[in-house]
Amino acid sequence: MSLFDKFATLRTLQTVLRGDGQVPSVATPMDEVHSATSATIKGRRVILAGTNNYLGLTFDARCRAAAISAIETLGTGTTGSRMASGNYRGHRELETAFAAAYGWPAGIVFSTGYQANLGTLSALAGPDDYLIVDADSHASIYDGCRLSAATTIRFRHNDPEDLDRRLVRLGADARRALVVVEGLYSTLGDRAPLKEIAEVRRRHGAWLLVDEAHSFGVFGARGLGLCEELGILKDVDFVVGTFSKSLGGVGGFCVSRHAELDLLRMASRPYIFTAAPAPAVIAAVREALARVLEGKDLRERLWRHANRLHAGLLRLGYRLGSDAPGPVAALIFGERETAIGLWQGLLDAGIYTNLMIPPAAPSGKYIVRISLSAAHSDEDIDRILAALEALASRRQPATAVASNRS
Ligand SMILES: Cc1ncc(COP(=O)(O)O)c(C=O)c1O
Repeated sequence: MSLFDKFATLRTLQTVLRGDGQVPSVATPMDEVHSATSATIKGRRVILAGTNNYLGLTFDARCRAAAISAIETLGTGTTGSRMASGNYRGHRELETAFAAAYGWPAGIVFSTGYQANLGTLSALAGPDDYLIVDADSHASIYDGCRLSAATTIRFRHNDPEDLDRRLVRLGADARRALVVVEGLYSTLGDRAPLKEIAEVRRRHGAWLLVDEAHSFGVFGARGLGLCEELGILKDVDFVVGTFSKSLGGVGGFCVSRHAELDLLRMASRPYIFTAAPAPAVIAAVREALARVLEGKDLRERLWRHANRLHAGLLRLGYRLGSDAPGPVAALIFGERETAIGLWQGLLDAGIYTNLMIPPAAPSGKYIVRISLSAAHSDEDIDRILAALEALASRRQPATAVASNRS
């Protein structure tokens, strides 16, 4: 009898993925990272096409300079919670900057994007409340539900009618329900029907939180996310985001049209019982936020790559997780070996992507995920498409996947 008995399935999976001693596809070790789009893996230079570095800001000159200067003046860490010694001016200014970008009165910075969901959901929803979450929600949303004392109800992925049914059942209690969705779902690269979802929740008087982790910086005239792009920010109560994708840092935020969000500082355990982000991170993200807001050029580059890749994948007959182009292209296979073969083939061709298999992917779907960056060159996209063409003989027949509802 061992505490590790429960991991028997994972042990088998790990063995399969390690296969013949090649690079394991989960937690691929990077020997060195050279830029937003290039690294060395196993002594070999590769194009990074499996990060969340959508705008390429990890190596932005202004962000790096700000981080270095913050280390020189404020040191390497805060060594304290925001409730104690970690409440620096930079943290407060960054919160104000996020709130101001949305034109809202309140913003809170968290130490990770994971904690932004954990801290917001667990504190907002009490024992008499309801969290109504999309079934394909990120683990941080589900964990936020667990940490809260609220009743959690799942609705079918991207299905406003199912959401409607759940809210009908709650009757007047719908006013105590917080609907939680993401803007862009990163496993399949599909977008939420936010207009329809906002309409349903409005009709029932429920609240709405949108996690724009993968859509912040990518959508909207100022890069504020899919809500901005669709013109529905006026219908949203809370937006959660992360620093670890388009902003190129580590941390997270929640902004709200309700000034009372500020009360969470005294109620949210994932905000209180953890160290405040390092000054260098805060300084870099402050610059990154400015770059996002003025970053039409970066978004245009990203979307040019996304449109090209999407068209190329359709031409080659790959089965995709989303009908629409986007920064994330999910190539879907029905068999694990085919997906592993393609992922490995791409790596051998000098292209790093992500392999996602159940339980990290929906059951029965084996995914090779390509994520793009504004920092990619046109030649990078040429090389990715050429490698996919060469490997296309291993692909499955093309059939569009209409949705990934569970
Ligand atoms: C939708 C969503 N929310 C939150 C997070 C957590 O963000 P972080 O990794 O910055 O903690 C992620 C991370 O992948 C995510 O995809």
